[in-house]
Amino acid sequence: MVESDSHNHLSVLFISSEAAPYVKTGGLGDVSGALPLYLHKAGVRVKTVLPLYSVINRDKYGITKLFDNACVKMGNCEEFYSVYHTNKPGGNDVYFIEFDKYFNRKSVYFDENGDYGDGPFRYAFLVRAAMQLAKDLGFRPDIIHANDWQTALAPYYLKSDYDPFFAGTKSVFTIHNIGYQGNYPADALAYARISLNDFRSWGFEAYGRLNLMKGGICFADKITTVSPNYAREILGPVGGNGLDGFLRARQGDFTGILNGCDTDIWNPKTDRLIPKNFDVHTYKKGKAVNKAELQKRFMLAQNPDVPVFGFVARLVAQKGIELLAPVVERIVNSMACQLVFLGSGDEWAQWYFGGLPARFGGRIGAYIGYSEELSHLIEAGSDFFLMPSIYEPCGLNQMYSQLYGTLPIVRATGGLDDTVRNYDERTGYGTGFKFYDISCDALYNTVGWANATYYDRKGDMDKMIKESMRLDYSWEKAAAQYIGLYQSMI
Ligand code: ADP
Ligand code: GLC
Repeated sequence: MVESDSHNHLSVLFISSEAAPYVKTGGLGDVSGALPLYLHKAGVRVKTVLPLYSVINRDKYGITKLFDNACVKMGNCEEFYSVYHTNKPGGNDVYFIEFDKYFNRKSVYFDENGDYGDGPFRYAFLVRAAMQLAKDLGFRPDIIHANDWQTALAPYYLKSDYDPFFAGTKSVFTIHNIGYQGNYPADALAYARISLNDFRSWGFEAYGRLNLMKGGICFADKITTVSPNYAREILGPVGGNGLDGFLRARQGDFTGILNGCDTDIWNPKTDRLIPKNFDVHTYKKGKAVNKAELQKRFMLAQNPDVPVFGFVARLVAQKGIELLAPVVERIVNSMACQLVFLGSGDEWAQWYFGGLPARFGGRIGAYIGYSEELSHLIEAGSDFFLMPSIYEPCGLNQMYSQLYGTLPIVRATGGLDDTVRNYDERTGYGTGFKFYDISCDALYNTVGWANATYYDRKGDMDKMIKESMRLDYSWEKAAAQYIGLYQSMI
């Protein structure tokens, strides 16, 4: 039975390598959790497909088996797998592909020995299984929406493996981060069913290697990225990471749509992970309680009057840790403030940031690892949020920060530049503090600017916090833009 082949009722197959709350390593997870949900709320028929990694807690999310012995052709062989499903109340259908060879691993993309190395095999399989699932369910999508290099093969399969079932299906490919292109040796071509004719410059080849994101850019019907400013940046050589020429060739089919915030999860009024809920009218009292708890949890001096600067991120170069690490000591030695770090990633950074509390007891707190709960507490209890990114496609934490009355300190790049309005000392308005140079001094001076504002211009702080907390980052707005795009394609 074909569930929907009518084009007046949009249907979308959304494929991603991660989605909150089931599995999340970064912002891709937040977005792949929220966007389908808000499309669903807007009346779109949307089915999400994810890998059933062994790290996913099946019981917690009511994930149950739908059927065994599903089968898809990979290279010259067939792979057999099982399909699982869940649907939380009010949510959209989420399907999971269980296949131990690829997804029964300690973590999602890499372990202590580095990248798993077989990304193209794992994710070519995911994409083909997801498309097979649509057929098995009789779900004929108007749009297949693919995200980042992991699912970049979907647009290609629509064109290369002609199947009448998908005759009316178009593809959208969203670039969440052009810094990660899925660049691997070319040994997966046969298995991934990439024709040698398409392993060429206008296609999947880059310097003799397989580049999955490049193929996504060449073959998708429409390409999007996650903020208007990042869309401009990656059309040029500095932001484009080698792919800007290919994006420029597709410029007419390329747009930037700003991500939203899932306010079911990130809302200081209702957040269940923080000790005290608050809104724009009660933020002073509310944030004070959360700050006290934050100071306690990170063994900082219990002082309500000293500003706390928070930081939550993957500890990788993109996030500006090479600007931040060299100025931490200068900041603590010259300013009355406290710092809190949460993150995991590059080994040197884990050692460096993880070692700070022992060197600056009571002034600096750090937790090396992943903690949903601490990330909410840091947003709720800090006064400022540090995001000195070298580049940032959209960035979610600066938006969460604003909604939690925690003023972001950002480098003016990508989505950070789009979403933060720089403090203007003449008017007292703004929603954060920006710097432009990729330099330690620029970061240091901007932290100093924020710190001085905290002590000397309390009225301005109040105006900025109120302005930030009233910002509208609802997913409804972003989902409506995606719907407009889908509709323009069918
Ligand atoms: P990116 O996707 O580049 O990592 P984003 O700002 O878009 O950056 O999203 C990062 C998301 O991951 C946010 O929801 C952030 O809170 C979360 N996050 C990052 N590191 C951690 C961590 N160590 N613990 C908890 N959450 C984290
Ligand atoms: C990427 C980007 C981040 C963006 C997220 C969600 O991981 O690094 O800036 O917010 O994707 O689109």
